[in-house]
Amino acid sequence: MAKNTNDEQFKNVISHAKEYGFVFQSSEIYDGLSAVYDYGQLGSELKNNIKTYWWKAMVQMHENIVGIDAAIFMHPKVWKASGHVDGFNDPMIDNKESKKRYRADQLLEDKIARYEKDGKTDKAAQLQSDMDQALQAEDLPRLKTLIEEHEIACPVSGTRNWTEVRQFNLMFSTQFGAMAEGSEEVYLRPETAQGIFVNFLNVQKTGRMKIPFGIAQIGKAFRNEVIARQFIMRMREFEQMEMQFFVRPGEDAKWFAYWKEARLKWHQALGTPADKYRFHDHVKLAHYANAATDIEFEFPFGFKEVEGIHSRTDFDLSQHQQFSGKKMQYFDNDLNEDGKPYGNYIPYVIETSIGLDRMFLLTMINAFEEEDLSEGEKQDSRTLLRLHPCLAPVKVAIFPLTKKDGLPEKAKEIMNSLKLDFNCIYEEKDAIGKRYRRQDAIGTPFCVTVDHQTLEDNTVTVRHRDSMEQQRIEIEHLETLIASKVSWKNLLH
Ligand code: GAP
Repeated sequence: MAKNTNDEQFKNVISHAKEYGFVFQSSEIYDGLSAVYDYGQLGSELKNNIKTYWWKAMVQMHENIVGIDAAIFMHPKVWKASGHVDGFNDPMIDNKESKKRYRADQLLEDKIARYEKDGKTDKAAQLQSDMDQALQAEDLPRLKTLIEEHEIACPVSGTRNWTEVRQFNLMFSTQFGAMAEGSEEVYLRPETAQGIFVNFLNVQKTGRMKIPFGIAQIGKAFRNEVIARQFIMRMREFEQMEMQFFVRPGEDAKWFAYWKEARLKWHQALGTPADKYRFHDHVKLAHYANAATDIEFEFPFGFKEVEGIHSRTDFDLSQHQQFSGKKMQYFDNDLNEDGKPYGNYIPYVIETSIGLDRMFLLTMINAFEEEDLSEGEKQDSRTLLRLHPCLAPVKVAIFPLTKKDGLPEKAKEIMNSLKLDFNCIYEEKDAIGKRYRRQDAIGTPFCVTVDHQTLEDNTVTVRHRDSMEQQRIEIEHLETLIASKVSWKNLLH
């Protein structure tokens, strides 16, 4: 029952996102491109505000963190060194009847979930352990055997006529250079992190950075996901906000704990109920990591990863040192406990990596509300986005009460005085109540109405989105009122 409600809520968020210009399917007039989305006029504003919140928190608020913007194309050897060419794979399997492709582990995960739902916890636990062992050992035939033993059928054809399980590399590749001959195969980056690693020394030297210090970046990443689902949760083109924090070997555990706490605080400052978030510490670690955790959010389809915090040791810098033949070392002239300089070393790295699109989805889900405003016999409701004012795409909507008597001119004059500091919208169509509801639906925290009284005494009505309360204030106080609510100081101290 609860699941239905969640499914419904999720569907409503998706259609709301489209209806109001937040997110569109890419190339929709050609029936779309699977797992690729475009952000519309309000979506791009909301996305920019999330980016600004992250950038301010990570770069501006930390004197020892700087930001870069590395290219998407990188030398092909980067991905050899990072391990992505050989190891960035998903095990996939095709159904021979439907020709549909699935991630083998996902089919098994779904079966485990079904066992759990049916109360067959022993079976679920056994399958989980068998699957983990097979994945760890990269034993592809064993994965197929598990699919057969547990009688998993293709959700589309209903048959169990499967191909072998094969590894499928998730990187997109393309030809670099205009000539067919001599052109080189390059990859679209599957993570932004490597653009930071290869620039480690450039930034450290030119910025005279002293360890511990961080390099942050926001940018596109591309993964040819075998299964893409749940709207913008798993996309083939998406955006990451990543920060690599370079520390002394031996101090990695301390900084891992620091960033775990700092990142959770960043999420919770937005006012999300604390029980909507949890950490999921990794028990099985990637070969380069000595600790890893996910920050998970409770989406309508369950707790899922939004952000990863990884203690990546000196793996990436060591690999780039080996593959490029260039030293990736840092000379630390601070004195250790014995009074001697720490000297040369390859720094250890704590990474924080958040998916911007997942953060966008989380923000929309959290903010979306269908509020019942019925009073007695009178049925009424409104749809609103309770977005934090700092994130709201539009901060102020300005309405003339009517389209005559000089009210539009006065409203535009007010808009012109505010639009440099705040994203404003001007609306004169429809009744005022309808205009309020439209702004509620896109999360605008303030609506300002200009009426005949305004022309007499320079006051306007300000209507607040969440409480729907209205107050009469002087035009000259508008800027202070709005600024006090949309200031980043409300989120960052
Ligand atoms: N540099 C580390 C790294 O890329 P990851 O766990 O693979 O780690 C980090 O990705 C974050 O990127 C995830 O927590 C998720 O929010 C986001 N992400 C990963 N794949 C994604 C996809 N296909 N679509 C949308 N977001 C994705």
